[in-house]
Amino acid sequence: MINITNLHKIYNKGKANEVNAVNGINLTINTGEFVVIIGSNGSGKTTLLNLIAGSVLPSSGTVSIDKEEVTKLPDYKRSKWIARVFQNPLSGTASELSIMDNFRLAAIRTKPKGLSIGITEDFKKKVKEAIETLGMGLENKIEQPMGTLSGGQRQALTLLMSVMDNCKVLLLDEPSAALDPRSAEVVMQTAAKLAHDYKLTTILITHNLKDAYNYGTRIIQMSEGRIIKDIDKTSGSHLKQRDLYEWFG
Ligand SMILES: Nc1ncnc2c1ncn2[C@@H]1O[C@H](COP(=O)(O)OP(=O)(O)O)[C@@H](O)[C@H]1O
Ligand SMILES: [Mg+2]
Repeated sequence: MINITNLHKIYNKGKANEVNAVNGINLTINTGEFVVIIGSNGSGKTTLLNLIAGSVLPSSGTVSIDKEEVTKLPDYKRSKWIARVFQNPLSGTASELSIMDNFRLAAIRTKPKGLSIGITEDFKKKVKEAIETLGMGLENKIEQPMGTLSGGQRQALTLLMSVMDNCKVLLLDEPSAALDPRSAEVVMQTAAKLAHDYKLTTILITHNLKDAYNYGTRIIQMSEGRIIKDIDKTSGSHLKQRDLYEWFG
């Protein structure tokens, strides 16, 4: 469960260009929810995600994941719990390294400093089996350099890498914005499948109302650093895709 109380993030405090990027957010997200955040550019969506990830520190207020305050967690623990996928399919992986080596690096990232991890047969088997569940045939290409894959394939693998190891929260900031429509669909479907298989709490930022409707269990709209709408899609409200376009289109 994610608990956010009285969260504020002010950039350039006290200067002429001061911005209240996140301006008093209170939000509880239950484990397993798939929350979609929509809102115009500059409304504070990415800042909120960064605050949840702990990569940006709040000006005031708190963010907790399963009762532990995010900002007080050591880095390795935060990166183990929180998986992130960014707009750019190239960030997060090393092109020249093989798929397997990329998985190995990802696994090292979530271990306490000093703990090493080699590519044991066990590890290889676990990775191969996980890749197989993506249904993309990539399990036969694990020795191939990451750079030889398509943007969609890379995003899907990056997603898998980041959720494999005891992850709790999956954060997606416009993951399909830089992809062609087919790859974008692959990435969204992979995200939804992994969220389900690994029982993750997921937050997706998107401008795509169709994705919001298809994948979200809850849709939140932000404006000027605040939440201005919060709709639970599962509460039998008979929300139609048409309604979404009327509200947010
Ligand atoms: N590192 C930063 N320094 C100064 N201002 C920032 C920074 N990051 C974001 N902002 C400002 O905070 C506001 C919210 O930005 P952001 O969270 O990126 O919005 P969104 O993701 O909804 O487009 C914007 O006015 C933006 O210019
Ligand atoms: Mg953004």
